[in-house]
Amino acid sequence: MSSPSFQAPKGTHDVLPPESWRWEQLIARFATTVEGAGYGLVVNPLFEDIGVFLRGIGEGSEVVTKEMYEFEDKGGRRQALRPEGTASVVRAFVQHRPPVPFKGWYVTPAFRYEAPQAGRYRQHHQLGVEALGTHDPDLDVEVIALADEVYRSLGLRQVTLKVNSMGDSSCLPAYRRLLADYLVSRSLCAEHREKVALNPLRTLDCKRDECRAATEDAPRMVDHLCAPCAEHFARLGDGLAALGIAYSVDFRLVRGFDYYTRTTFEFGAEALAAAQNAVGGGGRYDGLVEALGGPPTPGIGFGMGVERILLACDAEGVLPVPETRLDAFVVDVVGGREALALTAELRAAGLRVDRAYASDDGQPRSMKAQLRAADRSGARVAIIVGEDELAAGTATVKALQGGPVQEQVSRSDVVEWVTKLSGGSRP
Ligand code: HAM
Repeated sequence: MSSPSFQAPKGTHDVLPPESWRWEQLIARFATTVEGAGYGLVVNPLFEDIGVFLRGIGEGSEVVTKEMYEFEDKGGRRQALRPEGTASVVRAFVQHRPPVPFKGWYVTPAFRYEAPQAGRYRQHHQLGVEALGTHDPDLDVEVIALADEVYRSLGLRQVTLKVNSMGDSSCLPAYRRLLADYLVSRSLCAEHREKVALNPLRTLDCKRDECRAATEDAPRMVDHLCAPCAEHFARLGDGLAALGIAYSVDFRLVRGFDYYTRTTFEFGAEALAAAQNAVGGGGRYDGLVEALGGPPTPGIGFGMGVERILLACDAEGVLPVPETRLDAFVVDVVGGREALALTAELRAAGLRVDRAYASDDGQPRSMKAQLRAADRSGARVAIIVGEDELAAGTATVKALQGGPVQEQVSRSDVVEWVTKLSGGSRP
């Protein structure tokens, strides 16, 4: 086969059936979980005025300075594809002023010009929630518990939670200075030696040996929180413990966006390589609504990467593509209207049904070819209609994946028979 002229751009992927079944499952489970806690779907544009991201995510963030897909539209406006979901949801909140507390969830592509590798893409997809309008640490516990529930409902057992606090505008600046003063005389990697005065927090999550060694005994934010932030952090810990959610405090967890205040958290899949094992992360952003022109309004949320969660599922052997994806496949070697009618009847009963179509000469394809198609379709049974069946008012039901081998069923009983076999309803 000659190679096609066009391929998906570097760092992007096509997702086709049956693999996409897992995407549907994951999105459906996510929606069920968060809607059960009062979150409603939010749909935003995939691009925004670039200012939303510059002011929202912050110019101290690599996602904004190095990785954003920016363009000028035909009207000369500077726009950018969304590198994440939070800033747009908050922009929409400021624009529409819905009542608070406001709880929204989303599923969205996110675009970052990164060096592509396993688990790191230029277009990835996030499921996320954002909740605006309350400082209550119970809300922090709630959003973390929702993420935890999503991983557990998929069957993932090796996902661990790290939390930290970034303080707020009354304690973070002083800590930042303290950290910068501590680090300035230490030996750091070349990149952070340059940036330490400007943004010493980034040094904490640098993976290079020099920075790891230099920061090991550095002052930690959690030891320098102001009283209200310390109280908030303590209540977060109590709430997680009350729900039986295990966590560790990680002083290196500073996250990549400027908007975070107080609680930050990240979920790591132990079954994945360390560099790309974050399967979700988030935190509070109590100043973001104001930064985007709204009234002072606290907020918190998280985003989880669809691709990385599915990689973690592969590594733990959970959420496989099911072998049975259809209830029945109609095989018609007569070529009249029977396949059309029977397929419609089965589908009207809520069953998942596919069928074979005629060859290009208008004749039905051979029984062998149709049964091959039936096997490939992932159907539980093939329903065969031939001359004999038509004459006798029956259909032959043939099991495709084990089960009863072959049976004659009266034509009027076919729907009931397949319904019973499929457990009565769709999974
Ligand atoms: P983030 O940590 O940048 O946070 O992304 C959230 C999740 O998206 C990550 O934990 C990871 O699973 C996935 N992800 C990120 N970048 C990539 C990539 N290049 N390739 C594959 N997967 C990726 C945010 O985006 C924040 N908006 C989360 C948030 C919501 N904070 C508060 N509210």
